[in-house]
Amino acid sequence: MYQLCPSILSADFNRLGEQIKTLEKEGVEWLHIDVMDGDFVPSISFGMPVIKSIRKESKLFFDVHLMVTEPERYIRDFVACGADSITVHAEACEDIERTIEQIREAGVKVGISIKPATPVNDISHMLEDVDMVLIMTVQPGFGGQKYMDECTEKIREVRELIEAENLNVDVQVDGGINDETMETVMTAGANLLVAGSYVFNGDLEANVRHARAKMDEIIQKID
Ligand code: DX5
Ligand code: ZN
Repeated sequence: MYQLCPSILSADFNRLGEQIKTLEKEGVEWLHIDVMDGDFVPSISFGMPVIKSIRKESKLFFDVHLMVTEPERYIRDFVACGADSITVHAEACEDIERTIEQIREAGVKVGISIKPATPVNDISHMLEDVDMVLIMTVQPGFGGQKYMDECTEKIREVRELIEAENLNVDVQVDGGINDETMETVMTAGANLLVAGSYVFNGDLEANVRHARAKMDEIIQKID
């Protein structure tokens, strides 16, 4: 299953509800929601109140990416405000295995993420415990950065491990996804593509249409 996962970090927050409606109308199923605490990453984005209010109006799958130190403190809160999956950073948790368990117990899908400098090896023993691995392809913290080519090999590596173990785990990529990088990440094994500035800068409707058509083209090629 391939999905384009628009990241609302690049949305126009003055028109957030309307933009989410546009995504739904265009057939998008996943919404990527970046929560930043100003500690794990330098910037601060938004948190529970925003998620809670968009949840009232949207049936999209809420893919919550926590760029937060010790995210185990907030799992319940994010589930209560409407997360369908919670992704935590291996680098941010006191006890990553326990955090994964807590997310599972809270009844939502589990994602684990690593920053560009963190090797796949650090999380390879946990693949069977998660639903998704998020390979960051930029330094987490800001939208609009350039894709880091050195991350392509990590996408390939994690996809190979998942296949070798015959697991049903999604590989998500986040950062710098656009016309130039989409084929690279999909060929390497990513099936969930986060896109912030690529879809939200300019005409959202046209951009989403273009991005999804391009993904379909690549799927034809690689399947
Ligand atoms: C960055 C966030 C991303 C961000 C991606 O730390 O995790 O989800 O929105 O933005 P683009 O697609 O513009 O690189
Ligand atoms: Zn993200």
